[in-house]
Amino acid sequence: MKTTSLDKILQSQGFGTRRECREMIQAGFVCVGGELVSRYDAGFDPEGLEFSVHGEPWTYREKLYIALNKPSGYECSRKPSHHPGVMSLLPDPFLLRGVQAVGRLDHDTTGLLLLSDDGAFIHALSSPKRHVPKLYVATTAEPVTEALIAQLQRGVKLHDEPAPLKAEVRQLDKHTLEMVLEQGKYHQVKRMLAAAGNHCTALRRTAIGDLTLDSLGLADGGWSYIEPAQVMPKPA
Ligand code: URA
Repeated sequence: MKTTSLDKILQSQGFGTRRECREMIQAGFVCVGGELVSRYDAGFDPEGLEFSVHGEPWTYREKLYIALNKPSGYECSRKPSHHPGVMSLLPDPFLLRGVQAVGRLDHDTTGLLLLSDDGAFIHALSSPKRHVPKLYVATTAEPVTEALIAQLQRGVKLHDEPAPLKAEVRQLDKHTLEMVLEQGKYHQVKRMLAAAGNHCTALRRTAIGDLTLDSLGLADGGWSYIEPAQVMPKPA
């Protein structure tokens, strides 16, 4: 069995530099499988390793895949400027290990946001070639009309996009539309609604690929670990 030293394992999980991890271990703040380990060079098989740091339990994860129910008033950037960042809703080690949002939601958009430190996963989900659908529920200022739906389905031209952008659209009530987008252009839903003569007053993302926000049962601001296959089944 291949083992890795405990300081390296902790560093990989976002608990600080190698030196900081060594100091934490030597100070007696780290347990593995319920037993205190004070030698930083003690070797363990990282796969599925259960450990605790300052009494808080963790399981080793080579890569992190997180679903967050984003509340309004948070920015997706790792260096937010006007509002708190979504990273402040997650444990500190996630930031240190380089977790980032997969695409962005506006600060006032709520709902399903994925975060990861797996570059291939982020790329695959963001790639226009993969056509991963994203489902939004948009509230409109003006009542929804047949003409609005037809226009969004035919495609609307946004000034910096070469081709018209289309959405699959379903009316939920007088002021609410469900829209499925396959791209993730800047302010896409809001700009499409504005270009079609209406105005978006609230926006919530309710699904990405096969993963629905409802299935996760997350409170506002709550998060959970997910598996990539919950979002994107492997190509056959
Ligand atoms: N479209 C928007 O306009 N805003 C979002 O946050 C996401 C999609």
